[in-house]
Amino acid sequence: MRERLLAAEKIKAIEWRDGTLHLLDQRLLPLEETWRAYDSAVEVAGAIRDMVVRGAPAIGISAAYGVVLGARQRLAAGGDWRAALEEDFRALAGSRPTAVNLFWALDRMRERLARLKEGEGVLAALEAEAVGIHESDREANLTMAQLGVELIRKHSGNPQALLTHCNAGALATGGFGTALGVIRAAWLEGLVERVYADETRPWLQGARLTAWELVEEGVPVSLNVDGAAAHLMKTKGVSWVIVGADRITADGDVANKIGTYQLAVVAMHHGVRFMVVAPSSTIDMSLQSGEEIPIEERDGRELLEIGGKRVAASVEAVNPVFDVTPADLIDAIVTERGVVERPNAAKMAELMSRKRLH
Ligand code: MRU
Repeated sequence: MRERLLAAEKIKAIEWRDGTLHLLDQRLLPLEETWRAYDSAVEVAGAIRDMVVRGAPAIGISAAYGVVLGARQRLAAGGDWRAALEEDFRALAGSRPTAVNLFWALDRMRERLARLKEGEGVLAALEAEAVGIHESDREANLTMAQLGVELIRKHSGNPQALLTHCNAGALATGGFGTALGVIRAAWLEGLVERVYADETRPWLQGARLTAWELVEEGVPVSLNVDGAAAHLMKTKGVSWVIVGADRITADGDVANKIGTYQLAVVAMHHGVRFMVVAPSSTIDMSLQSGEEIPIEERDGRELLEIGGKRVAASVEAVNPVFDVTPADLIDAIVTERGVVERPNAAKMAELMSRKRLH
């Protein structure tokens, strides 16, 4: 299956070329495909904050390249470049709070710096580390896609209706996608009759990004308002809800795009299976439970306005952009290290003690 998946890997959102980071501006998709070039860590932090790049693994990969850019600038400026680089680490870490992949990638870059040998080229070492983070995410996507397909097939080998939320596809990762990677692979294996894509208010990652990715690849997809999910589960024979994650705790609780929690509650009511697909860089064993996950709140104008035009009454808006699904509502967490069914603390600890499968 790996070769078929690689052949289907077409969409990219991140490119590192000639020492510059290129990002596909996801705010403009699907109407415009505009690439932007970044030469400094502060600019990359701004791109993450402003959602030019989004999706947990993609944020982590971009931040890693941001450190390379920061180091290059600081070294060129002379003086105490290590102290100056701390400002870049701070700017990148302050860009968004929920996806742990960002902090995981920054930690890896920091550790690489700490391991530098006498006379070793700083920039070459950091660049190799960032490229390694990017490449290993791509590999992890392929492994998860295969594991997710096996899980779907274990329950039924027939074409089936799947529902997804937000965008956990190629645009959100370094490769094939997490949740959307499983869905894509399931389509290639003849296991998909139709995908229902929640539009995902207020940023419309489902309408703009997931629908675009699936249409580009010829996967049958219908777009629905977020509030239609329960009705679709009841009337369209949805067999799986498949979503990505921004942070998974030691207990197996999952933070993901706002609306994921209510999907899991509704899925349980309808006997629909609930799968979370995420690389182990999304697992934060330092937090025991979901209550400890910082939940990003964004500007209320994201709800009050559409395309810069006011649509709501004169009212205060509350705009948490992630929520936490408790482990006991989750059937399976699929990672590149393996699959955890009915997650709990013991199973998460065992998973994290394993080596990568690939
Ligand atoms: O606000 P976003 O678009 O960065 O939120 C993205 C999500 O919630 C995704 O589901 C998650 O990051 C997984 S992406 C593989």
